[in-house]
Amino acid sequence: MAAKTLLLALLAMASSLAMASDPSPLQDFCVADKDSKVLVNGFVCKDPKVVKAEDFFFRGLDKAGDTGKKLGSNVTAVNVNKLAGLNTLGISMVRIDYAPRGLNPPTLTPRHGDPHRHRRTALRRLRHIQQRQRQPSLHQDAEEGLQRWQPKSSSSLLAMASSLAMASDPSPLQDFCVADKASKVLVNGFVCKDPMQVTAEDFFAMGLDKAGNTENKVGSMVTAVNVNKLAGLNTLGISMVRIDYAPRGLNPPHTHPVPPRSSPTALGRLRHIQHRQRQSSLHQDAEEGRRVCVPEGLIHFQFNPGHTKTVAIGALSSQNPGTITIANAVFGSKPPISDDVLAKAFQVDKKTVDWLQAQFWADNNN
Ligand SMILES: *[C@@H]1O[C@H](CO)[C@@H](O)[C@H](O)[C@H]1NC(C)=O
Repeated sequence: MAAKTLLLALLAMASSLAMASDPSPLQDFCVADKDSKVLVNGFVCKDPKVVKAEDFFFRGLDKAGDTGKKLGSNVTAVNVNKLAGLNTLGISMVRIDYAPRGLNPPTLTPRHGDPHRHRRTALRRLRHIQQRQRQPSLHQDAEEGLQRWQPKSSSSLLAMASSLAMASDPSPLQDFCVADKASKVLVNGFVCKDPMQVTAEDFFAMGLDKAGNTENKVGSMVTAVNVNKLAGLNTLGISMVRIDYAPRGLNPPHTHPVPPRSSPTALGRLRHIQHRQRQSSLHQDAEEGRRVCVPEGLIHFQFNPGHTKTVAIGALSSQNPGTITIANAVFGSKPPISDDVLAKAFQVDKKTVDWLQAQFWADNNN
């Protein structure tokens, strides 16, 4: 009886283990570095500077697999082993070909799969462009059968961003894991500093009492205290920002590649606007002390309609939510997005687009 109970308990554990899916990314992308000797949960990240458009593309899903063998079926998987850009994104795809009366024999997938998340397979020739944070863009012409991957940082498909943004940072696997910035190894988040070397300073950041310099084109400054500035935040899934606004200053429309679920508190009068899909928007004038919550994935901005300075404090449920400023990503990307594309998208003539692309797109993120 005892043995039976134990067996049942073990089986129950196995099934609950299988309920889990991949943890969430801690940055916009982490392309698998297959050459690295370091083994982690998933793969370590390639240096973002050497990431190319090809890292997000896979060719050949249009080709039927050879079903000539015994079983009469052939599974072609596009997983992180074949499409390095999938690393940390928690999804993959398969094509399964069946001969007449072919069988894909009973299988068990150790990792939970979610077939409905974001994949796009080109069924015609298509140019696909992805925006990265801080404005570089990745281009690729997709012929029939090319699969491409959409990392979190995309501003080219804003509607997708909101459903991508369902996840938040995964839970820590230890009490703390202070980011070791000196490490050459790049992983999802940062590798941990030797706990013996951890000091009290790793958990402190100064300066949120100081107003940011708002003397720029948009009249605002975002001072973030994220894992880049406060190493102790690594794996803890939270960060903070202070946003200063000059009179009539604007924190321009933006979204976050890693879901922030922030809740800014206005310390002066502030107009907060959130964009919903399908073009409706939500406005709210926030007086002193009012809290605003930002649902995941929405484009939002704040404007100071008053004649005095104001400030907002935000708490974010990610150690590094990142920011994609829409105008900068669209008009300031390098290499630029074709003016044909932008003229169509914004429904203006190409001259207007060329003018916009020639502007200096100020960054208000510090
Ligand atoms: C599946 O198809 C590919 C492409 O035709 C072939 O190279 C491979 O050997 C096939 N695998 C199996 C298990 O039949």
